[in-house]
Amino acid sequence: MSDSPRTALITGITGQDGSFLAELLLSKGYIVHGVVRRASTFNTERLDAIYADPHQRGARLYLHYGDVADGASLRKILAHSKPAEVYNLAAQSHVRVSFDQAEYTADVVGTGTVRILEAVREYAEAGNAVRFYQAGSSEMFGASPPPQGEDTPFYPRSPYAVGKVAAHWFAKNYREAYKLFICNGILFNHESPRRGETFVTRKITRALTRIKLGLQEKLYLGNLDSRRDWGYAGDFVEAMWLMLQQAEPDDYVVATGESHSIREFLDIAADRCKLDWKQFVETDPRYLRPTEVDALCGDASKARTKLGWSPKVSFPDLVAMMVEHDFELARQERTLAEAGHVVAARGLSHR
Ligand code: NAP
Ligand code: GDD
Repeated sequence: MSDSPRTALITGITGQDGSFLAELLLSKGYIVHGVVRRASTFNTERLDAIYADPHQRGARLYLHYGDVADGASLRKILAHSKPAEVYNLAAQSHVRVSFDQAEYTADVVGTGTVRILEAVREYAEAGNAVRFYQAGSSEMFGASPPPQGEDTPFYPRSPYAVGKVAAHWFAKNYREAYKLFICNGILFNHESPRRGETFVTRKITRALTRIKLGLQEKLYLGNLDSRRDWGYAGDFVEAMWLMLQQAEPDDYVVATGESHSIREFLDIAADRCKLDWKQFVETDPRYLRPTEVDALCGDASKARTKLGWSPKVSFPDLVAMMVEHDFELARQERTLAEAGHVVAARGLSHR
């Protein structure tokens, strides 16, 4: 193998996982390219800590405008960046929103995957050695009861999950049809202080810390009885990388093997805030889903034995990490408020 640094391309680099994966790859000496959607507001906040102006000597992170809805942009970025590894993390990843925007979600999550697979196929046929990671989801198991492993049948329960099942099978088909090195990671929920604020864990830690500091009065939630297998995003991106370092491409479930309800998450988070959440939490039916996924709990034995992967951060430590982070944000907001500044809680009523 040559001594020149390996190059990776990440779609969805501005998201939670994209930012952790970019950090991991940079720490391993990679040159990292990322696809960024054009937006009217900044959407690269999660990359602030690792982004250096590309004119600076030694910069190893490069961002390119592109979109998985636009195959031509993907081809151009591949030709320009010449990656040895491609990680397809781009998605409209919110399950509830996928019911409101089913066509769009199917396009980005399902057809978007075909667009990048086609671009990668052409890139490989032009003589470039390339490995591909597809971000699959435990949502694909949907109504299949836990524990869910690689052999559990898919039973998707949302347009998002149906799109991910399509993407999974597209990836598998391209692996078999074109002998490409393609892996599907089937990742269970993973969270962090960088989690989007409309996912239930972050919504809870943001709200409870704000309530504790007198910045908010209520927290409106949907179904508190569903159960999720929640891990730490920093641990999970390592499994993505490990998949692409194996001798053969394969599909892997990545999970902690522990499952907790939303109520249990609330109990631990509220306990750390010294609050009784029952005094503040109310139900709003708009957060309910037409079809819910009741229980997810993954069996990651294959990832443990074949990849040597295991999660490091425990569930209580994950909740604590998120609460501590959001306390700091709430303290900053309160300081501003006390100094007479208007503190706009970004889109809180929309969550
Ligand atoms: P996320 O925070 O929602 O990030 C999604 C990323 O995709 C963002 O960078 C977003 O860009 C980008 N994106 C959205 N539409 C796009 C488009 N049309 N073209 C290009 N980029 C687009 O999601 P995440 O939690 O990091 O998850 C990463 C991937 O893993 C997703 O595919 C998700 O479905 C999947 N997954 C996540 C979990 C989990 O628990 N986190 C579990 C299983 C699977 P903007 O920043 O501009 O919005
Ligand atoms: N978002 C949200 N908001 N969820 C709520 C709320 C609320 O106010 N109240 C209750 N929930 C429940 C949901 O009904 C669901 O059962 C559970 O909390 C988790 O919801 P999310 O945090 O939105 O995550 P998700 O499990 O639907 O999807 C996430 O994990 C998938 C992997 O299993 C996303 O990251 C997906 O992209 C990912 O594939």
